[in-house]
Amino acid sequence: MDDTVTWRAQDIDLSDLDFWRRPYAEREEAFKVLRRDLPISFHDEPVIEGTSVDFPKGTGYYALTRHRDVSTASRHPEIFLSGPGAVSQMDLPTEMVEYFSGMISTDNPKHARLRRIVSNAFNPQNIRATEESVERVAKELVAKALEGGTGDFVTDFAAPFPLEIICTMMGVPRSEYATVLRCSNIILSMGDTEFIAEGEDPVLVTLDAAVTLTGIMEELGKYRRDHPVDDITSALVNAEIETEKLTQQELASFFVLLVAAGNETTRTALAHGLHVLSEHPDQKARLTNEYESLAKTATDEMVRWASPVIWMRRTLASDYTMSGFDLKAGDKVLLFYNSANRDEEVFEDPYVFDIARTPNDHYGFGAPGPHFCLGAHLARREITVMWRELLTRTPAIHSTAPPTQLASSFVNGIKHLPYSFN
Ligand code: HEM
Repeated sequence: MDDTVTWRAQDIDLSDLDFWRRPYAEREEAFKVLRRDLPISFHDEPVIEGTSVDFPKGTGYYALTRHRDVSTASRHPEIFLSGPGAVSQMDLPTEMVEYFSGMISTDNPKHARLRRIVSNAFNPQNIRATEESVERVAKELVAKALEGGTGDFVTDFAAPFPLEIICTMMGVPRSEYATVLRCSNIILSMGDTEFIAEGEDPVLVTLDAAVTLTGIMEELGKYRRDHPVDDITSALVNAEIETEKLTQQELASFFVLLVAAGNETTRTALAHGLHVLSEHPDQKARLTNEYESLAKTATDEMVRWASPVIWMRRTLASDYTMSGFDLKAGDKVLLFYNSANRDEEVFEDPYVFDIARTPNDHYGFGAPGPHFCLGAHLARREITVMWRELLTRTPAIHSTAPPTQLASSFVNGIKHLPYSFN
């Protein structure tokens, strides 16, 4: 790791977007210092630039940077609530939280009901159909790209792959794919000017993108209610028991969540995968030669390495003392998964990328608890299948320039990554 910046824990401002524009190594160093010197640190809320929407000034939040503290917060959902909002540092109006982030921002009993309905719809038959589409789409994308020779790994593979899978899974017509991709980019861009044009209001554009996505799903849901087929959307809206199906609004919110949670995350894991494998040709050669025996551990190591979701938020329902630190009811905490995933208390040589790492108790998919990633199985499968296809068909693939980072504290995104097949 490059240690060129000397950080003092009390000077690190995790709400400053410029912090997130720094090179990965500098960010890693900052979190190392926080874990060591100030594992629970206070931060003012970020200021959203360029919006006319007047957010009330929030109370700020605490950053949890150690594996064990992130674990504690996740395992005690009755104290560490998701309902007030899991994906924004700021307190947004309740209707907005419900509408745009779905079950990830709910607590029991509502969360248990939604999660049960959704899990039932992901039955073996529907999952099998999705898994088949994973194989097919991976093959198609690699075959298409091989006709070229060079390109951008994000636009050729990492972005379209999970998008097609989610759209296929939900039965979204192909004619809507481009719209879904555009909206998903906007929602997770956090105002990055590549996705939100200069002069546009980032908050209003983001709301507009979410409304477009809910519109697509409301229309599809209505149609599937009258014309059911064997797909997940039909299962979600047509359960036998009234309380066991989703309302139109719940379905639409779930779709926004799926698109946001399932797209950018898998894309980020795939893109970091190419970057890190290109930086470690020895590991790449080993993975290519022993793919079947290493695929499982390599996939998880890529997720640990990438930590696509940087944090999730919880809000305290009551006072709680965490590792000797007194948190109060109403306090907000951010669970920094990226930092937990480098915690030297848990990982041997955390800054070493090791495709055979065992054990690998990473929190890339969240820590154990009721909100643990619903799509972890699917995401692992997507990553495994894509790398199998790439390393079999074109083992020389490598990145040819450093990644262009997304300026975001929330998603560890890569916007572009040039690659070559030879
Ligand atoms: C590498 C890819 C992925 C990563 C790193 C990732 C990460 C996460 C994380 C950190 C959480 C939050 C856990 C918490 O709050 O405790 C989460 C929740 C969730 N993820 Fe994923 N995810 C990925 C892929 C997917 C995919 C492919 C889907 C769906 C197709 C998906 C659907 C969801 C849903 C629905 C939730 C909310 C679960 C709940 O609140 O009960 N994710 N994911």
